[in-house]
Amino acid sequence: MGRLDNKVAFITGGARGLGASIATHFFNEGAEIIIGDVNIEEATKKAKKINGKAFHIDVSDSEQVKSIFKKINSKYKKLDILVNNAGINGFEDREDLLLDRIAVNNRQSKEFAETGEIKSHFDVTVNMTDNEWHKMISIHLNGTFFCTREALKIMNKQQKASIINMGSVLGTTGGPSSPHYSAAKAAILGFTRATAKELASRNIRVNAIAPGYIDTDMTSSLGDVKKLVKSATPMKRFGTSDDISWAAVYLASDEAKFVTGQTLSPNGGFVMSQ
Ligand SMILES: NC(=O)c1ccc[n+]([C@@H]2O[C@H](COP(=O)([O-])OP(=O)(O)OC[C@H]3O[C@@H](n4cnc5c(N)ncnc54)[C@H](O)[C@@H]3O)[C@@H](O)[C@H]2O)c1
Repeated sequence: MGRLDNKVAFITGGARGLGASIATHFFNEGAEIIIGDVNIEEATKKAKKINGKAFHIDVSDSEQVKSIFKKINSKYKKLDILVNNAGINGFEDREDLLLDRIAVNNRQSKEFAETGEIKSHFDVTVNMTDNEWHKMISIHLNGTFFCTREALKIMNKQQKASIINMGSVLGTTGGPSSPHYSAAKAAILGFTRATAKELASRNIRVNAIAPGYIDTDMTSSLGDVKKLVKSATPMKRFGTSDDISWAAVYLASDEAKFVTGQTLSPNGGFVMSQ
């Protein structure tokens, strides 16, 4: 018997990384899987492996989101689990920016070690364009809201469901390279708590996972930053997608039936409260 038998789960950003791993874990625990992703080719391949279904969806586009949830409702007639996981880190097609920030980071450490004074600066916020800001907020925060709103049109009548929102430790600790990412992730934690309170009377639980640094495509280009992160992590390693997926299985399952409004943070001790 699986921990998610007879449940239907929709996972956004499930074509790869954490979303794909969560999809596999949910499938192995007995759930029927629907993957939504902008990368429909990879999403379809992934879904095939787990007898699931894939939809093309850009979670930041409310019309697309509405139409996909209508399709889900007409095909499955219910939705037990929503995982709002789709995300970007802002460095897609901008490896130059990432390398620049890694270089500033290295320069600051060197300057401080040699002279006790820091002369290099990140200057991320002052140079951020409207477009970069809006894109980040749209995918993470608007996407989480749009998908939750449409999911509730199915879930409200069930009187039982679980919504899991993907936060990040950076929503709590901040990150010097990513004010927009940190802001979006912090907002997702607030949204999680507010909707958890609103939906408790309907037995719809809303929780967040705030991963620490996890080995996925999203973090593959972090270069020297990886060493810094590992040394600042009590468990001295990056997490694996497995570390996050088991947290998702727990929150999605009936084992977590008294758990709502919480943030579970598998992070190797990098940060000890969210
Ligand atoms: N990897 C980490 O260290 C880490 C840490 C904390 C939080 N997170 C969060 O976990 C989630 C998954 O991260 P990951 O590491 O698996 O990233 P990833 O880049 O490997 O996968 C993200 C997936 O989201 C999809 N996606 C991107 N924009 C989309 C959109 N507008 N609509 C639909 N799908 C979209 C991508 O196509 C991709 O399949 C993200 O929300 C990320 O911010 C990751």
